[in-house]
Amino acid sequence: MTSITDPDAPISPAMPPFRSEGNGPWVITRHADASLILRSPAFRTASPMMGIERIADRAKRDYSDLLALLDQTMVFQNGSAHLVSRQAVRHIVQQSMARWPASTILAEARHIATSVPSGGAIDAVVHLADPLPSRILASMLGLPVDQAMALRADAMLVTRAWSHSCSLRDYDACQDAARRLRRGLRSGLQRDSIETDDASFDLIAFLLVAGADSIAGTISAALDLLARNPAWQARLRSEPTLMPGFIRETLRLAGPLRRLNRRVAQAAVDIGGVSIAPGDLVLLRIDRAHRDAEAFADPDQIDPGRKNAPLLAFGGGAHMCQGPLLGAMEAEMMVTAIIDRFQIHPAAARGVLLDHEDWRVFAHLPLILTPVAAEQ
Ligand code: HEM
Repeated sequence: MTSITDPDAPISPAMPPFRSEGNGPWVITRHADASLILRSPAFRTASPMMGIERIADRAKRDYSDLLALLDQTMVFQNGSAHLVSRQAVRHIVQQSMARWPASTILAEARHIATSVPSGGAIDAVVHLADPLPSRILASMLGLPVDQAMALRADAMLVTRAWSHSCSLRDYDACQDAARRLRRGLRSGLQRDSIETDDASFDLIAFLLVAGADSIAGTISAALDLLARNPAWQARLRSEPTLMPGFIRETLRLAGPLRRLNRRVAQAAVDIGGVSIAPGDLVLLRIDRAHRDAEAFADPDQIDPGRKNAPLLAFGGGAHMCQGPLLGAMEAEMMVTAIIDRFQIHPAAARGVLLDHEDWRVFAHLPLILTPVAAEQ
């Protein structure tokens, strides 16, 4: 396994800012430095679009679908276009939360848990982590669930173009996925479910990953932690009020994003003892910041009651996530439904993460479930 797909690959400690690849982007790994940058008006998010336009021009490629999607990808937007998108998404998320109160989410989660085969090894991604966020997202967007699942896979493929360092072949694959995704959304969305002009179709493409893979990744990470820490399963069953804190700890120790989208400095600024010049790029490694001992005492320990530094798992500042409550609630309800019913055991085969530099989500997670009653 390469370290990017290996869930047990060690996470390097936090350290002062340093430059990657010689003169490459600044890598920010300390919690205090990352928090400062997220709040600072001296930084904007950096879009990969200009680079892709240049490559398309040089290699005589048509990347029009990919570029149209990136143009509506909120994490790359700044200024008034960004505010318009945030308003549209706020409305979509509010409607969804009204349609899916906690009790309805829990009922759906219990329904999913009852249809899981027990006894042998199952892929927890397919049977436990994916279904709930897919169903809620499909209902949020007015899409059939099967189609939402297929479109999610293409939306995740497109995120590879976010990394600023793709090969031509990767960009070609991203463009193919972007074309399928745009066509699929235009044919699949129920017209009355959402205001559908061209830009909002492309905005929704971003929600397919932002609003589902993030949650599925959190659920599978929580199940993996529990499988390897059986005492925590018993503790959460006897003290269910610890569940929100346990999900926060999952987001801290094994959250679905290793790093945030790149930021670019608009002015000279000193961060953590280094001078960052206008135009310099910064990479915020939240996985490392979440284990920064200056911010979190005993950072490798699961402690649902910890009151240390704020989590960076939902980002911060102008691009702060728009679905943290919904995301956390779905993860809490799904994990509750599973541990109420099953004892979770690791399978012989270890899980594998998606081969993706930004996302830390399981592609496969073999687990064994046995009925809780049989353990007692
Ligand atoms: C556990 C679940 C979730 C996690 C861990 C998560 C994480 C994040 C992070 C880290 C960002 C900031 C990215 C950056 O600054 O580069 C973000 C942005 C965003 N998230 Fe979430 N998210 C989750 C659930 C959701 C849900 C359920 C929705 C809505 C349906 C959502 C919608 C968004 C949107 C629209 C943005 C872009 C905000 C902007 O650029 O202004 N997220 N999310």
